[in-house]
Amino acid sequence: MTGKIEHLGIAVAHLDEAETLYTALLGAAPYKREDVASEGVRTSFFLTGNNKIELLEASSPDSPIHKFVQKNGPGIHHVAFHVEDIVSEMERLKEAGFTLLHETPKKGADNKLICFVHPKTTGGVLIELCQDDPER
Ligand code: CO
Repeated sequence: MTGKIEHLGIAVAHLDEAETLYTALLGAAPYKREDVASEGVRTSFFLTGNNKIELLEASSPDSPIHKFVQKNGPGIHHVAFHVEDIVSEMERLKEAGFTLLHETPKKGADNKLICFVHPKTTGGVLIELCQDDPER
């Protein structure tokens, strides 16, 4: 079973500009910036209340974020749900007919183990599962 919405992922074309925009919008600066080379992204995290916003900028031309922004422009990219046990949640979703983008959990930004669920099987929304990474 999934828990609360862990964060909203927003694809941006320029991280510096988007950080300035969101700092003005939320009235608070990002609490973290992190490069995730394996995903080809640079991220920036904001807190608003108990909620988290993740800004994502492509760090290479073959990054999925680069393709997303080219195709759709900047905007909401994914919805991430907290899970306690990502491996069993991945198995449950696979059995229920969802297509997962990876066979095993990957190391994501902000100390998470993550897995994406293909938007073709979720009504057009890219879903991310997030478990706290016990090794970080
Ligand atoms: Co995310």
